[in-house]
Amino acid sequence: MVEEKKKRDGFGSKLGIIAAAAGSAIGLGNIYRFPCELGENGGAAFLLIYLLVVIFLGIPVMLSELVIGRRSQSNSVGAFKQLAPKTIWPIVGYIGVLCGFLIFAFYSTVSGWTLEYIVKSVTNSFQGKDLVTIEQEFTAFHDMGWRNVMWQGVFIFLTGFVVFKGVQNGIERYAKILMPLLLVILVVLGIRSMTLPGAKEGLAFLFHPDFSKITGKVLISALGQGFFSLSLGMGVLITYGSYVKKSDNLTSTAFSVVLADTAIAILAGLVIFPAAFSFGVKPEAGMGLVFNTLPMLFNQITGGYWFCLIFFVLLAIAALTSTISLLEVLVAYISEELHLKRQWATVAACAGTMLLGAFASLSLMSNTSFAIGGIPVFDLMDFVSSNILLPVGGVLIVIFVGWYLGKQKFFEEVTNNGAIKASLKKIIFFIIKYLAPVAIAIVFISGLIK
Ligand code: PHE
Repeated sequence: MVEEKKKRDGFGSKLGIIAAAAGSAIGLGNIYRFPCELGENGGAAFLLIYLLVVIFLGIPVMLSELVIGRRSQSNSVGAFKQLAPKTIWPIVGYIGVLCGFLIFAFYSTVSGWTLEYIVKSVTNSFQGKDLVTIEQEFTAFHDMGWRNVMWQGVFIFLTGFVVFKGVQNGIERYAKILMPLLLVILVVLGIRSMTLPGAKEGLAFLFHPDFSKITGKVLISALGQGFFSLSLGMGVLITYGSYVKKSDNLTSTAFSVVLADTAIAILAGLVIFPAAFSFGVKPEAGMGLVFNTLPMLFNQITGGYWFCLIFFVLLAIAALTSTISLLEVLVAYISEELHLKRQWATVAACAGTMLLGAFASLSLMSNTSFAIGGIPVFDLMDFVSSNILLPVGGVLIVIFVGWYLGKQKFFEEVTNNGAIKASLKKIIFFIIKYLAPVAIAIVFISGLIK
């Protein structure tokens, strides 16, 4: 046991864990899924609920996961075996692994598109085209099912390559350089978008809430998006938490990650909605919101060629630091629980994801046979994992920490055994034990009824 622990990889520095966790959190969820969900769920009202979810549920759930991970020094299944031996709690870990597998499968589809769009940017293929043409080309690309699968495969391979090299050499090094770059470029794009003619309407959509638009569906979408965007409820933060040093401050890590992730999501909204309104793209355009609006934006601005190229490179990188974390959950589980060598675990997880992921990609073709009741497998995977499995996982995680692990062990972990103060620990524990389980349950049930 002791020997095994020594062999575990770990993060080298405080910045390393924040960068890696933020790298996991910040991704297509912020730049692609957040605007989609916001656009489809009435704009500012959704944003408001989303912010409440992130602050009151996101921080406590994230801290709970970090506590479980660091205390157990184990993967998401092993963690529960370790902390709650001879109970059924490890089920939470298994749900997480399953969920991670599902998310990786459809997430890698959209990640693959970023590569196609990098090629389109390099070859300047949007130049001079109008919205209708750009939209048609987006649809035509989906209909080339195998081309999607190919890019998806390339992306999964890239992810495998980084994870193959282990935590400190791989994940940490990449995340530390690439995440700050993302922030800078979004700020530049946001300024450009907000100065377009007609941008005001987009800002109003984003910031003037219409409370009559809040329905059960809006609630559950905001809850699911909160968990998805922060990578919560499936063990990413348990796994990463297990690589964090005993002297790191978990509470401030959780705060920093939530702040960074939320800032990037709002920035993405500021880039996309003013431009969408300016060009006449409907906010509920779904997938097209990002992939059609932005090429239009780049077409209208000086230096558009470079903005376009840099943006899609960036989007690919943001997606990569997220798929790395998804794969890491699978690899940590397979290698530690099923005792496969790390390298073989990586190969196995990538191969499995490729197989399942191909269905997700092919289900977006217009004549697809991979749809159930008219709903593409892609959307089903997204809905089941983000809106159901993540909140269920999240609620079980806070119940575990609040009611099974208990206050004392929680305090030991967040104060590093008394070495630091962690002044918010009491209120956060109260939220973990009472407020979070009730709130998640209410939102979840009200959404399902609708
Ligand atoms: N949080 C990531 C994003 O916003 C997606 C993700 C979800 C990653 C769940 C890991 C686990 O893009």
